[in-house]
Amino acid sequence: MDSFEFNKLVGAFLGAVFLVFSISLISDAIFAAPAPEKPGYAIEATEEEAGGSGGEAPAQESVIPLLASADLEKGAAVFKKCAACHTDDASGANKVGPNLWGIVNRPIAGHEGFAYSAPMKEFSQGGSVKWDYEHLDHFLLSPKGLVKGTAMGFAGLKKVQERADVIAYLRSKADSPEPLPDPAAAPAPENASAPAEGAAPAEGGAAPAEPAPAQ
Ligand code: HEC
Repeated sequence: MDSFEFNKLVGAFLGAVFLVFSISLISDAIFAAPAPEKPGYAIEATEEEAGGSGGEAPAQESVIPLLASADLEKGAAVFKKCAACHTDDASGANKVGPNLWGIVNRPIAGHEGFAYSAPMKEFSQGGSVKWDYEHLDHFLLSPKGLVKGTAMGFAGLKKVQERADVIAYLRSKADSPEPLPDPAAAPAPENASAPAEGAAPAEGGAAPAEPAPAQ
């Protein structure tokens, strides 16, 4: 191969490289899809913990009063949405998500052999916080709403009945199911605490009645 031949080859190669780069630059420019500011699935129905740092906490219907009468079979059907990522048997096997055997009142981020995300580990406060019914309720309504940055890629179950059924179902998946919560212990919905309006007129309107006995 003489040097002219060689130069032709090098030239052809460089030409091809140039072409590929230009095409990819141009197609990037043409097909550039601006990243959505918020992913379509993120549900920010954040429910602050009682005494939490403010924020607009939309009132959440609690599963607590529904658990005793929840339907385990429907819960099993709901769990199909979770089964892609979670096992619920005593095998302890982890998938994309940790095994959920005995999850009720299990320490958060506490299953052996699963690499939890940093936000989930932080939320567990070293394992001292447990998956009680309220935490499960909030988490399943909106995983990222309760544990910001969790690795659980699941939008959440908006229907309170679905959450109740699946939580009751998960409760049954344990060596010995945890006691059901006291239905009366359900936290009052935020919007029920509005008697402030009713109380106000008492100060102005009712006041003149007071001085009467003095005469
Ligand atoms: C796309 C996969 C995926 C789906 C679907 C999914 N999860 Fe998860 N789940 C995860 C991952 C991953 C984690 C670990 C999260 C972390 O470390 O931040 C997790 C964590 C959890 C935890 C905390 C476990 C622990 O040991 O602290 C619970 C409870 C849970 N999921 C319940 C459910 C339920 C119930 C459903 C269905 C309604 C569901 N998940 C659907 C992936 C999923």
